[in-house]
Amino acid sequence: MKITQQEADSNLLPDDSRRKFLGATAMVTLAGAGMAVGLAGCKQDDASKPGHAASAGGDASRAVAPGEYEIHPGKLDSYYIFSSAGHNGEMRIYGLPSGRTLKRIPIFNMDPMVGWGITNESKKIIGTNADGSLKYTTGDTHHVHGSYKDGTYDGKYLWTNDKLNCRIARVRMDYMECDKITDIPNVQGFHGIFPDKRDPVDPAINYTTRVFCGAEFHIPQANDGRDLDDPSKWFCLFTCVDAESMEVRWQVKLDGNMELLATSYDGKLAAATQYNTEGGVTLAEMMSAERDACVFLNIERIEAAIEAGKSFTIGDSKVPVLDGTKAANKDPKTALTYYVPVPKNPHGVNISPDGKYFVCSGKLSPTATVIATELVHKWFAGELKDERESVVAEPEIGLGPLHTAFDGKGNAYTSLFLDSQIVKWNVDAAIAHFNGDKSAKPVVDRIDVHYQPGHTYSSMGETKEADGMFLNAGNKFSKDRFLPVGPLHVETEQLIDIKSDKMRLIHDHTAYPEPHDAIIVRADVVKTKQIYNMDDFPNAVKSFGDSRVERNGKKVNVYMTSVAPVYSLEEIRVKLGDEVTLTLTNHDKVEDLAHGCGIEKYNINFIVNPQETHSVTFRADKAGVFWIYCTHFCHALHLEMRTRFIVEK
Ligand code: CUA
Ligand code: CA
Repeated sequence: MKITQQEADSNLLPDDSRRKFLGATAMVTLAGAGMAVGLAGCKQDDASKPGHAASAGGDASRAVAPGEYEIHPGKLDSYYIFSSAGHNGEMRIYGLPSGRTLKRIPIFNMDPMVGWGITNESKKIIGTNADGSLKYTTGDTHHVHGSYKDGTYDGKYLWTNDKLNCRIARVRMDYMECDKITDIPNVQGFHGIFPDKRDPVDPAINYTTRVFCGAEFHIPQANDGRDLDDPSKWFCLFTCVDAESMEVRWQVKLDGNMELLATSYDGKLAAATQYNTEGGVTLAEMMSAERDACVFLNIERIEAAIEAGKSFTIGDSKVPVLDGTKAANKDPKTALTYYVPVPKNPHGVNISPDGKYFVCSGKLSPTATVIATELVHKWFAGELKDERESVVAEPEIGLGPLHTAFDGKGNAYTSLFLDSQIVKWNVDAAIAHFNGDKSAKPVVDRIDVHYQPGHTYSSMGETKEADGMFLNAGNKFSKDRFLPVGPLHVETEQLIDIKSDKMRLIHDHTAYPEPHDAIIVRADVVKTKQIYNMDDFPNAVKSFGDSRVERNGKKVNVYMTSVAPVYSLEEIRVKLGDEVTLTLTNHDKVEDLAHGCGIEKYNINFIVNPQETHSVTFRADKAGVFWIYCTHFCHALHLEMRTRFIVEK
């Protein structure tokens, strides 16, 4: 369906109230797309009226005291935020509460600062074509989640998805660098990702060993040119990746398109919210059913079925696939999956820190659906009659609920995209209200954010150690919050104090578009290395004496070391047309004493950290003298740190 000019023009309403403006735009867009669902039908209680919500600017009780959360120069933050970066393809680290940017970790993108996508080592991780060029140079990270031990972060790994080229990446938290990337076969729109928290069977494995990946777009299987015009044959796969080897273990065919994922604390369940259970290919078709689903996967049964050889394969992939569709899983006692009906086109699913409830955010419905973990287990035991029986609450919380975070004190915090608010609601009160107690008021508080929040997440909120200190709202718009920088603005991350009853805005910090999800991790969980270990690099040039230029036909190997402010070779001489591999080991041992290696006119640029080795391979296709120089400030004689790369005709 095409958007009309009139609808497009309505985006230009001369209304200086940004909040109204953005709300109206979103409403018009939804209505224009034939989505006149019950958006206006939200019966709001007192605390829920948008006019009653307050931002820091308008209500003194919403402002933190001056300096209350200030991190003075030289003082350290108490939390890390590990954030996705959207279609920038990287992962980012911020400090909290300051909001300082600490690091950008290149993953699916290229980064000349460190040489990601330039060095042989990073190219090997990203993946190359037969000619050595990168297989992909773009990516789209949406979610970051950490590895668990005993129900909380162990500080070992972070994982993120690439929705664009359907890869999963792992970041080692000791070096804060990507060490593995895996292609997921037979999926498109790989969106939701979540590690398990313990093994479903073995109690000794009380840590992450699997990472689950949900696919959003259904496609022909195999997608090799068959069934191009028969969407009834298309489907999505839910994928399990081994946390250590990063190999794909198994996949499950599911109905619907998967949005977000969550895992239970007992290791037995993975959940995925689903829109388009209709299997439609147009917006109208994807919106036709009144309800979609939150699907639960029984991990123990799935792995037993794989073990029993009940799987099939798709196309060239050797990954075993099981049928998890509703039609193939009618008997709960043997079912691999359980589809809980929830209001149509839901968005996020998040589990409470006590492990008791999965909360699905309504998106088009002004509600959150609370599903009890215990009752999901009862369904799989055949003890429930109705598919909706595991739903224990469905409070009305506001317009456009997308994601829910928790404070560990029984409260949930849901981002409201259309209302541009975070709403705080009490889970027990919601359950009491659902059970008929009309005096129970689920909504406790709400605060305006600026504007259009997507993900919201709390400090340690995805662990049993949720501490109810901070909540961050990742907002899609930042109009009027920062100096304008042209038509495209930065985005805002707004940090909110959730220690007391009323939420208070601490500050805005900027984020280059476009972050999606993040986790907030206590600083003491993270233990990083200070320097690299030379022995971890098989190609390390271990001493200055090993520095040399070695020729083998047209292939030339250059072995070089660095110590501030010199490279070990004063001159490198090759012949036009040679294939040159330059290996550089940094022998400095001081933390942060990195050297760069840029080769003039050869488009090569990377760094070596203390005791680290990197190599590059390229064709010497230009004759002449080309200076190799240190690009990373290292010494008073940094500018003099250079060597001659001489290419003879
Ligand atoms: Cu070495 Cu700058
Ligand atoms: Ca739908």
